[in-house]
Amino acid sequence: MLLRLASIALAVVVSAVLLPASAAAVLNVTATVAFQEVYTPLFGSHNIRRSADDRTVSILLDRSTGSGFISSSMYHHGFFSASIKLPSDYTAGVVVAFYTSNAHVYEKRHDELDFEFLGNIRGKPWRVQTNVYGNGSVSRGREERYVLPFDPTTEFHRYSILWTRDAVAFYVDDVPVRHVSRSRAAGDFPSKPMALYATVWDGSNWATSGGRYRVNYHYGPFVASFTDLALAGCRVDQLMLPAAQAGCAEAVEASDPAVMTLGKLQAMRRFRERNMVYSYCYDTRRYPVPFAECDLVESERKMFKESGQLRTIAHRRRRAGRRTARDAGGAKADM
Ligand SMILES: *[C@@H]1O[C@H](CO)[C@@H](O)[C@H](O)[C@H]1NC(C)=O
Ligand SMILES: *[C@@H]1O[C@H](CO)[C@@H](O)[C@H](O)[C@H]1NC(C)=O
Repeated sequence: MLLRLASIALAVVVSAVLLPASAAAVLNVTATVAFQEVYTPLFGSHNIRRSADDRTVSILLDRSTGSGFISSSMYHHGFFSASIKLPSDYTAGVVVAFYTSNAHVYEKRHDELDFEFLGNIRGKPWRVQTNVYGNGSVSRGREERYVLPFDPTTEFHRYSILWTRDAVAFYVDDVPVRHVSRSRAAGDFPSKPMALYATVWDGSNWATSGGRYRVNYHYGPFVASFTDLALAGCRVDQLMLPAAQAGCAEAVEASDPAVMTLGKLQAMRRFRERNMVYSYCYDTRRYPVPFAECDLVESERKMFKESGQLRTIAHRRRRAGRRTARDAGGAKADM
């Protein structure tokens, strides 16, 4: 995905007009913006449909092309969010991605934070993948995959990426689903300004069951809609210097999504216990020696095969049931 988009992205960023620098360091993570305030088309412009008020944008994949957009500026830390409604019906091979990257600027040392939605076969749930790359760690993919506890094609749900100097967190609605701290990911932690992207493309060779199911254009066009666009980040100028936003990184760290309360950590643990279906930490085929940041829980490890895939959903449900009972007891004790 990266390499295919890199050259297009470069052209866009070089020609993008940077917005005037703002002096304020206050971040309002709930403020939403119109498309043209922060975004610009990236590719497949005839397949990008904007609402009259410019606050909802749909990107389409049809036989002619996929499509996507990119932030007009780059950001060094921030909170990046959108409510997304995924294409419905049969979407095998269709990939919808919402991510930050700087591959178009730092080809060999790029950083990237991903939400990737990997299509579905009718009747089966969509799977969503998160991934973290830092400083060109492309041979060290840190993929995790989850099934969503709702149907992402019938309503908008919010997906957010928080990136501070110390940590990355991925949110689905208001629940953190993954938290990565810099101290543990070390040199592979994103450290350079990134742009924000949203794309829909044909991932036939990869997306659904490892490429077994290709895109069937009979069911197209495939439409992914984005709204509640929020982009509370620390903008940089063309030399990658902060655009007069002193204290911005601190403001991101003080923002609500950056504060991990006990309640949020418990919600994250519950989400992961119930919904995670693949983890690079348990993929001993790919990584015989696990990464330093992986907390290998022996009871959890038994639920995953050597390939890092969850053994069976039924196994998961039985275990989640037991955990839920225990959590409920624990929560009472905490109060
Ligand atoms: C943040 O933005 C929201 C939505 O635009 C607005 O309702 C709220 O008042 C803002 N908060 C601050 C502190 O500016
Ligand atoms: C990033 O990688 C380059 C080599 O590709 C290395 O020289 C540099 O020290 C690394 N930076 C960090 C922050 O680890």
